[in-house]
Amino acid sequence: MSSKVTSLVFTFPLFTYAIELVKDFIVSMMRTSPIPKHIGLIMDGNRRYAKSKDMELKDGHNAGADSLIQVLNTCYKLGILHVTVYAFSIENFNRSKEEVDTLFALLRDRLKFISEKEESYARFNNIRIKIIGNRTMIPSDILKDLEDIEERTKHVSSAKVLNVCFPYTSRDDIVHSIQSIAEKVESKEIESNQHITLETLTNNMYMGPNTPPLDILIRTSGHTRLSDFMLWQCNYNCMIEFVDTLWPEFRSWDIMSIIIKWSYYRTLQLEQQRIMSNKKREDQKAMTDILKELPPHPPFASITQH
Ligand SMILES: *[C@@H]1O[C@H](CO)[C@@H](O)[C@H](O)[C@H]1NC(C)=O
Ligand SMILES: *[C@@H]1O[C@H](CO)[C@@H](O)[C@H](O)[C@H]1NC(C)=O
Repeated sequence: MSSKVTSLVFTFPLFTYAIELVKDFIVSMMRTSPIPKHIGLIMDGNRRYAKSKDMELKDGHNAGADSLIQVLNTCYKLGILHVTVYAFSIENFNRSKEEVDTLFALLRDRLKFISEKEESYARFNNIRIKIIGNRTMIPSDILKDLEDIEERTKHVSSAKVLNVCFPYTSRDDIVHSIQSIAEKVESKEIESNQHITLETLTNNMYMGPNTPPLDILIRTSGHTRLSDFMLWQCNYNCMIEFVDTLWPEFRSWDIMSIIIKWSYYRTLQLEQQRIMSNKKREDQKAMTDILKELPPHPPFASITQH
């Protein structure tokens, strides 16, 4: 009885409306503090979720897709324009052929669903879909569909991007970058080895030069490893969050609380930098003041230039 009442309350239009209002209010407040530019997601837990709910695996993946849409909506509303998801690891090729084929088809169908029609999710919201990974490993019929999807979402005016890593590992990405650079050195597009910098490597990764650095990496479902995802991109300023929630249960509140945490630390960091640079200036000023208060130096020894 009571659960019936609760579920009635939760589905009552006014209640959901109020929740949306609160969410929008929080979003508009959050937009006034520092906001990350790029979020990476390892969406673990569809299988375990399906098992725990006694569902078919397919329904677990569907629930996971719903979560992704919620999370994307929250990110884009906040002004986070780049979201990167780990859809298929090269390591997954070690699974059975049936499972690999199913996963490929599932991904293709889902991406098609969100981009095929003009009013579909990605096109309606002006989201560009990019496939990030080693394309030579994708069967040609699937690859053709994926390239169609990229093409269809390419000309949208907005800067929102969904990077789908498929089939991807970070080490393959690094090898690919080095190979491209070697070719460019050979063709003299890059003058010499001395001209290869950190930036050269970054720019030659699958994501290309127009992706901002990764600010937050989230992995759900309790695993605490990176599994060869964005190793190059997870450098000093990236916050890594491992959460126990299964991906299909990960919703906009969850992503919002992680972003608030990031924003809080970022504010502290900026404040600290500000204090440090002020302190530097004050130290310099104090030094000059001390020098000014010293008795006049003998004419033959200049200690400072006023
Ligand atoms: C598959 O597994 C074997 C042994 O566990 C490993 O050596 C190999 O690198 C794996 N292949 C891929 C593509 O992950
Ligand atoms: C991509 O996949 C192909 C085919 O499996 C492989 O030969 C190649 O080494 C992979 N990596 C890169 C960086 O091209």
